[in-house]
Amino acid sequence: MKKFRACVVGVGFIGAVHVEQLRRLGNVEVVAIADPAGAEEKAAALCVPKAYSDYREMIDTEKPDTVHICVPNNLHYEVAMYAMERGISPICEKPFSKTLEEARALVAYAKEHKIVTGFNFNCRYYPQAMQMRKMVEKGDVGDIFSVHGGYLQDWLFLDTDYSWRLEPEQSGASRAFADIGSHWTDLAETVIGSKAVEVFADFETFHKTRKKPLKPIATYSGMALRPEDYQEVPIETEDYCTVLFKFANGAHGCCNIHQAFAGRKNQMLLDVAGSKCSLHWDSEDSNELWIGHRERFNERAPKDPSILYPETGAIISYPGGHVEGFPDTFKQNFKCIYKAIEEGNTEGGEFANFEDGLREMLVCEAVVRSAKEGRWVKIDEI
Ligand SMILES: NC(=O)c1ccc[n+]([C@@H]2O[C@H](COP(=O)([O-])OP(=O)(O)OC[C@H]3O[C@@H](n4cnc5c(N)ncnc54)[C@H](O)[C@@H]3O)[C@@H](O)[C@H]2O)c1
Repeated sequence: MKKFRACVVGVGFIGAVHVEQLRRLGNVEVVAIADPAGAEEKAAALCVPKAYSDYREMIDTEKPDTVHICVPNNLHYEVAMYAMERGISPICEKPFSKTLEEARALVAYAKEHKIVTGFNFNCRYYPQAMQMRKMVEKGDVGDIFSVHGGYLQDWLFLDTDYSWRLEPEQSGASRAFADIGSHWTDLAETVIGSKAVEVFADFETFHKTRKKPLKPIATYSGMALRPEDYQEVPIETEDYCTVLFKFANGAHGCCNIHQAFAGRKNQMLLDVAGSKCSLHWDSEDSNELWIGHRERFNERAPKDPSILYPETGAIISYPGGHVEGFPDTFKQNFKCIYKAIEEGNTEGGEFANFEDGLREMLVCEAVVRSAKEGRWVKIDEI
């Protein structure tokens, strides 16, 4: 098995998850991280040997095999391009890029130079999501009537909640849909094995203005903002959206995406109705899959590799009864991406690559246009 040297660019919330989960693969050493904010302390906390404030210097000095891109969305393009121009495989966080043009340029470059890429649609690697995908693939669910569900969070519930994700210059034209609706749509498409072809979206911004802190957020922990501590800024992107979908296989879909839903921290819901049975999965109870029947008792399948399909068992690390969740999805996704890099497989597989990133951007573009124009919009093909 090839030994890889990896670098991680951007070590906030998700960069740290990448570092930790890469270590579980055994054949990947995280040799350095880059972050303009506190790189030395972050590297020390994660026991990474080297820290850089500039990702270019890190890549040129370390010459790694892979670069993990965990920076705000507007920087994904430049880091991915910088890595690919040096023949290095990039593994990029979602959303893919800030604009469709950037997304197209990244895919074209990777294709022309035969670079294996990875994209972190990690939710594909929840065992019960994989089991749903396999059940649909093997015909257990029958013809797909519909898929519905949503992605609910509450971290933007208050008008004092603030982050770079609220600023379109860093985040892009869509916020809630691009950030978490992208995960839902990708999972719905991969589970039912069919692409969305048309969308109708309704957007709402509940907090038309928010209180942007004038000092680093951490400064405020445990104390209320005073008027002199913040600036009231207008908010241009959606807190909420509902999207109706039509899929290529004739199925219909609907999702609610919400970042101001009190009490729901990070809940993804996926319901599939088929002609043989229906399925329900909730990421906040991710180790269980509900299977609904009309003419016999319903079932609850636990995350147990000895009784699920072998393809599902292949992405499970521990026996039944030993809970696996969010971090494990990163491990399993990275395992598949690194195998593809080792094999030089640019065609992709069950994991997502840059083409899936471009696809995500095309869906997002259609969703934003539909919300603006109040009508059904067709999704462009890659
Ligand atoms: N797949 C998932 O489940 C998931 C979850 C969370 C975030 N994300 C994605 O990961 C990305 C990062 O999100 P986050 O929540 O970790 O944000 P964050 O704000 O917690 O971290 C971003 C980090 O990037 C650093 N950074 C900024 N500019 C940089 C530069 N030029 N070079 C190097 N580092 C730089 C910041 O200092 C910060 O440490 C986003 O694109 C986000 O959508 C994905």
